[in-house]
Amino acid sequence: MKERNARDPTFLNSKAREPIPQLIGFVVLLFSSLIATTKATAPVPFLFSSSSPKPAPLPILPLPSAAQLSWQLGEMALFLHFGTNTFTDSEWGTGHADPSIFNPTKLDARQWVQVAKSAGFSRVILTTKHHDGFCLWPSAYTDYSVRSASWKNGAGNVLADLADAAREAGIGLGVYLSPWDRHEACYGRTNEYNEFYMAQMSELLTGYGEIKEVWLDGAKGEGEKDMEYFFDSWFALIHQLQPGAVIFSDAGPDTRWIGDEAGVAGSTCWSLFNRSSAKIGDTDPQYSRGGDPYGHDWVPAECDVSIRPGWFWHTSERPKSALTLLDIYYKSVGRNCLFLLNVPPNSSGLISDEDIQVLEEFAKIRQTIFSHNLAKNAVLTASSKRGGIDESQFDPLHVLEEGIFTYWAPEEYQSDWSINLDFGVSLSFNVLQVQEPIHKGQRIIEFHLDIHTEDGEWKTVISGTTVGYQRLLRFVTVKSQYLRIVIDKSRADPLISYLGIYLDPFSIGNDASGTSSPSNFNSTEVIRLTSSNHSLNANFNSTEVIRLTSSNHSLSANFNSTEVIRLTSSNHSLSAKM
Ligand SMILES: *[C@@H]1O[C@H](CO)[C@@H](O)[C@H](O)[C@H]1NC(C)=O
Ligand SMILES: *[C@@H]1O[C@H](CO)[C@@H](O)[C@H](O)[C@H]1NC(C)=O
Ligand SMILES: *[C@@H]1O[C@H](CO)[C@@H](O)[C@H](O)[C@H]1NC(C)=O
Repeated sequence: MKERNARDPTFLNSKAREPIPQLIGFVVLLFSSLIATTKATAPVPFLFSSSSPKPAPLPILPLPSAAQLSWQLGEMALFLHFGTNTFTDSEWGTGHADPSIFNPTKLDARQWVQVAKSAGFSRVILTTKHHDGFCLWPSAYTDYSVRSASWKNGAGNVLADLADAAREAGIGLGVYLSPWDRHEACYGRTNEYNEFYMAQMSELLTGYGEIKEVWLDGAKGEGEKDMEYFFDSWFALIHQLQPGAVIFSDAGPDTRWIGDEAGVAGSTCWSLFNRSSAKIGDTDPQYSRGGDPYGHDWVPAECDVSIRPGWFWHTSERPKSALTLLDIYYKSVGRNCLFLLNVPPNSSGLISDEDIQVLEEFAKIRQTIFSHNLAKNAVLTASSKRGGIDESQFDPLHVLEEGIFTYWAPEEYQSDWSINLDFGVSLSFNVLQVQEPIHKGQRIIEFHLDIHTEDGEWKTVISGTTVGYQRLLRFVTVKSQYLRIVIDKSRADPLISYLGIYLDPFSIGNDASGTSSPSNFNSTEVIRLTSSNHSLNANFNSTEVIRLTSSNHSLSANFNSTEVIRLTSSNHSLSAKM
């Protein structure tokens, strides 16, 4: 290996602007070993040299705005579809439902927000008005709202309750205001309806504190009155009233629809996009899913999907399993997108117990997988380092610091770009996480992961296209002491802000192609994880196989109708029903 070891003492010859715990640890360690070997005879002059730091590399356009960055760092948002449909067992209300039926007697927006927050969602987005036109706030421009509801004798305001709860909990608030309105009489008269719509939008954006996201669709039913939506005027109004908000639509301007309602992004997914190439209500799903490597606008994608078959709550429907949500997480957050999961409150005005249970399991599963980054204890080396060996600002060690704002950068004008890891011992893993510092643009086009085999060869385990904010790749479990991440193609010098290597014991099969659907679980299955010792209690169906291997927690189980179970661990309890 030609790479220099990052623990080489020469790397101390620089100014770490933000010392991190690992770095301090190494410094202490190196000091003690220097003192031991030199018998503390003299100070070590190179430790205190003071050359100027190398500036950061130029960004590559387009770049995210501050609102887009904050949106992306949030990773997951909870969508709340709620309204008269919740009481009429429908998905698309006609606009003629009697508003008095809206009576969520136990409504508690704090419960919604707590469910979102404890499961790791950074914002909540409410359908303040769906296609049926019923408003969850007392709009001055229509009576078809909570003012005409039985709930609180017309004195309730769902949006106000949610805004208060979100502010208290410190999570973001977003609103959906349906352009299509099946109740409003002026719908169909272009100027009049656009004025009405913008008046309602102004109520939402001026009466409830900070709004982080405005979610729009171009929906208009078949055979509906022909009229034009003045999107450009709406967008300008939204940005004027809420400069920190991102606007979602099929075509941006700030975040784009991924092109399906399954929550799944393309396995190549650029935040780059041409807004002018997309039309709201009439997009090319392929273009939406993949973005555009030549796009001149920054418009990252949002993956919306419902936890249940429908968007509104129906007594007959059940939520997806936690493992299905995990699969969608890999295919949304793990493909440079935001995961927008709809969890509809029920007709009591609360999120149902079965949905809460699934969300808790989903959070525990993510915690189990992603809280053990095997790379944390690895020795890292890079093919080169920006600014040369004296510069610590771009050291490969930064890829183990959480977040995107510190990063490894290679020396300029190189053609080989790689980071090597030495675990010290052979470890098993099946997930790679890579993050780019996207505030400096999205760069990486192609990359791959190699392991060092016992016969001394490098062998490719998985390759990928595009990284962006975050890339998660799953593959068949491999075991190795040495591995390397190689960047094969990049729009500019590749920068890496985070690397994770994990063992995911839950995902079955692999997702190497990016098209397979590995987790085919049915709704009867429940996985419960308890406590930090990762005991697993699961009901599996007969074809399911779980393999879990790691150096200090080794468990291997095959479940099928013949109940073959092998357990090789004293610190994992496992109970299974078949
Ligand atoms: C997007 O715009 C760039 C020029 O800025 C162009 O090269 C590229 O072909 C466009 N993409 C599409 C799909 O039109
Ligand atoms: C709504 O969910 C709550 C649990 O949060 C539950 O107690 C209540 O019975 C549910 N209401 C309906 C109508 O299912
Ligand atoms: C692991 O967790 C299970 C379930 O919580 C518990 O019964 C068991 O005693 C724990 N084992 C250890 C070693 O902590």
